[in-house]
Amino acid sequence: ASPARGYATLSDTYSGTSELADIEWDNLGFGFLSTDYMYVMKCPQGGKFSNGELQCFGNIELSPSAGVLNYGQGLFEGLKAYRKEDGNILLFRPEENAMRMRMANRRWVPPTGKGSLYIRPLLMGSGAVLGLAPAPEYTFLIYVSPVGNYFKEGVAPINLIVEHELHRATPGGTGGVKTIGNYAANYSADACSEGTIGLLRPKAILTVLYLDCIHKRYLEEVSSCNIFVVKDKMIATPAIKGTILPGITRKSIIDVAQSQGFQVEERQVLVDELLDADEVFCTGTAVVVSPVGSVTYLGKRVSYGDGIGVVSQQLYSVLTKLQMGLIEDKMEWTVEL
Ligand code: COI
Repeated sequence: ASPARGYATLSDTYSGTSELADIEWDNLGFGFLSTDYMYVMKCPQGGKFSNGELQCFGNIELSPSAGVLNYGQGLFEGLKAYRKEDGNILLFRPEENAMRMRMANRRWVPPTGKGSLYIRPLLMGSGAVLGLAPAPEYTFLIYVSPVGNYFKEGVAPINLIVEHELHRATPGGTGGVKTIGNYAANYSADACSEGTIGLLRPKAILTVLYLDCIHKRYLEEVSSCNIFVVKDKMIATPAIKGTILPGITRKSIIDVAQSQGFQVEERQVLVDELLDADEVFCTGTAVVVSPVGSVTYLGKRVSYGDGIGVVSQQLYSVLTKLQMGLIEDKMEWTVEL
């Protein structure tokens, strides 16, 4: 018997606030829904991570002086589990997230075709610090939440705004690592345009496309995902060079596109290339493959059409069929539970 089924019998100890019966599976967005369990493991100063355990999902206790709260000492991952038609569950490339896990929240995996279970491993400095120093204790935890489409447009194209003043990452910084601070930087792009931090427009935060901070001419990434530009049979995406997150979906789409006969170039992509692109799409664990309907750059708007482009659709279709176990997984990217 799988450990997952064993743990599932513990559900009477569930202490979360969401009720499975209340979930509208046809209407899942990318909001947080609490689930049954989370995995927690601690590492004391100079020691090793040990005695990890499955706990009922709930709040965690932190010192006000915790490294993560004061100095942003934290990293996270994100991956998804899909339910197959036979009821089994597929994880997509979990080894890429450098994690091994047991599935204890099976019942929260949405029904086949209705979404996925987003899995969020989080590593943080939980020990108290006052001066700038590594935290004396670290906590690793994994929690999960059933999700649907990240963008409220669903699979309809999103509209991007190119940000030419503010930057997400700088050379020599942490832009290429999934630190929590990289995401905090996104808020300033929106706050500055409003002139106040109190009136953030969530949609604008979601759709900012950043340029490199030196030349202000090359594409970096969108606030929550990587970007691809399609022209004829060529697909270009910004090369990984320390300021761009090496997305697992990005890497997977490159492989899928090449296997489908496309020429994929990882290189510097000029912002001007958006002007005569056939299609533009974003990739990420949360967004999967998301078509871009328009890009606005220095007040000029370029449109790519109302629907998903042919190439984006083809790549989306192959990737999601792989993730859901609908086509043969020759690369052995999925792990069945
Ligand atoms: C993901 O795609 O998994 C991410 O971590 C992006 C996050 C903003 C939801």
